[in-house]
Amino acid sequence: MERELAMEFARVTEAAALASARWVGMGKKDAADDAAVEAMRSLFDTVHMDGTVVIGEGEMDEAPMLYIGEKLGTGEKPEVDVAVDPLEGTNLVAKGMPGAIAVLAVTKRYCLLHAPDMYMDKIAVGPQAAGRIDLDAPVADNLRSVAEALNKEVQDLTVVIMDRPRHYGLIRQVRECGARIRLITDGDVAPAVACGIEGSGIDMMIGIGGAPEGVLAAAALRCMGGEMQARLWPENDNDIERAGKLGIVNINKLLTLNDLVGTDDIFFAATGITEGPLLRGVIFSGDGATTHSLVMRGKTGTVRFIEARHYFDKKPKYAIKGVN
Ligand code: FBP
Repeated sequence: MERELAMEFARVTEAAALASARWVGMGKKDAADDAAVEAMRSLFDTVHMDGTVVIGEGEMDEAPMLYIGEKLGTGEKPEVDVAVDPLEGTNLVAKGMPGAIAVLAVTKRYCLLHAPDMYMDKIAVGPQAAGRIDLDAPVADNLRSVAEALNKEVQDLTVVIMDRPRHYGLIRQVRECGARIRLITDGDVAPAVACGIEGSGIDMMIGIGGAPEGVLAAAALRCMGGEMQARLWPENDNDIERAGKLGIVNINKLLTLNDLVGTDDIFFAATGITEGPLLRGVIFSGDGATTHSLVMRGKTGTVRFIEARHYFDKKPKYAIKGVN
């Protein structure tokens, strides 16, 4: 994929963030999601690529747009796989809480794990600690090994974990080791990606969250030379059956970064909707809005932060709409 696509993908996540940011704090997570989906979908049509959604809003019969298998782009080469989460953190936007982003990853065709919409156990670190994690090892071992790689004490580490009953045992173990924890209510993509950003203050993300979100975060970590390991976490036979339909035969397989994202020919883009560990949120002013985005290219490892100012007289579709 040519480097020029980076800007195109930033435009796509900017559009989704601008649209859903109108719904911040309105208590309407579905409306916020619909706005992001629609904006992202319409921008994709302008991108010169022959894309196929492999991670999206659901199966064709569940989602009108950005469904799995949907074709995106103008249809010209390159042929690519697309993973999207137009609004990652629907509750965060509904409640006006930090950490919501619009996010996508694009790779050359057939290189992204077709992760079903189910849970995944994950551990993520940045480049300095790559090669130092093991999902199957006790958490104390991982904390010790990551601290050593980062030249820190375990007590200096900050670990992000979703605040869920399924993690109470994990949280207790991390506390017993003395590492600092940042509990989050939703949105585990941004903190996983933040592990790879120097100065983010986040060293590690662990725990069970969405599998599609895991693949998106893995794309960013692969661009930056970080690491993620994961394992699907089915809750019932239906989950196992759905994974089977997507070609996943061994549901218990330990998934390496290469299993999640099997190429360096990747773009990852995200735009902040609400302020978070990775990106600032959309800020509206009378005549427009400012967005803060991140775009990465796997081939070169370049990480770009883009602050963009959008003027509503020139982009009327981003002026207030849809909010009642
Ligand atoms: P949304 O789909 O509502 O945006 O939620 C996203 C998310 O918080 C992910 O970041 C996370 O991986 C997953 O949901 C966790 O699922 P659950 O809320 O069921 O624990």
